[in-house]
Amino acid sequence: MKVLNFGSMNMDYVYRVEHITEPGETQKSSDLTVYNGGKGLNQSVALGRAGVFVYHAGNVGPHAESLLQELAEANVDTTLVRRLPDEPTGHTVILLDDAGENAITVCGGANQLITSEQIANTFQYFGEGDVLLLQNETNALKDLMAAAVNHGMRVVFNPSPIDDDLLSLPLDTVDTFVVNEVEAAALSGGSPDEPEDMLNSLREMFPTARVVMTTGVAGSWYDDGNERFHQEALPVDVVDTTGAGDTFLGYYLAGRLEGMAPRGAMALAGRAAALAVGRPGAAPSIPTRAQVDAT
Ligand code: RIB
Repeated sequence: MKVLNFGSMNMDYVYRVEHITEPGETQKSSDLTVYNGGKGLNQSVALGRAGVFVYHAGNVGPHAESLLQELAEANVDTTLVRRLPDEPTGHTVILLDDAGENAITVCGGANQLITSEQIANTFQYFGEGDVLLLQNETNALKDLMAAAVNHGMRVVFNPSPIDDDLLSLPLDTVDTFVVNEVEAAALSGGSPDEPEDMLNSLREMFPTARVVMTTGVAGSWYDDGNERFHQEALPVDVVDTTGAGDTFLGYYLAGRLEGMAPRGAMALAGRAAALAVGRPGAAPSIPTRAQVDAT
């Protein structure tokens, strides 16, 4: 069984601010740090550090060496990453406030230039029973989901960031949704609600899917139609929440691929995410398996 993550790679420009800037306000930043990130990259790094071998596919532009190095150091295969020298590498502007909360603006750049030919070239290496991991920071999600179905692959989908096009995707092909409460609400066509109500709506819409829902300090939920449970968040001193959801997803999936039951995989993911929020940056904040196992 192989894991393919067809996902984004971003340089994160993280500006330290006292509070998240209001519309019309100009605020001084006390510090700028550049980190490796992107939801796709972070999730591959989390899987790799958890001990799962991942093939990462997608696009980068120039000056992306540190992104590729971050992946390689997490034992992620990058031979399927395409270099586009004339297109900007994906990047973000992240405001990080004193409470560790963030506001992210993402410029897709090369991440948004996935082609049909690239999809065909990549999927020739994958088949029945393999896993395709997707987020919503690349183009061509419809074609990627269709390719997964054609190759008998299971789709794990993190519909983040949320946008209006998501509901036009063939979401009935998704095996596992990993969402936060905003994404759960958008998928189920409403506004954030009681977690169990949102899970009920998602269950009606996607009767066979597994749903993992993170709700920040309120913990996380798992539902697969047979089993539903809530898991408390671990108490932590928050430094930076960027990448915590990606860490949770990577470790949850790693646990499941290792054969853990949902409760075990969710507990592993919760411990990993708790370590990540205590550290700055996206990819650099993702703990190793040894660090998680030591908690
Ligand atoms: O989920 C965190 C990530 O979202 C950041 O690394 C940033 O690149 C944005 O894509």
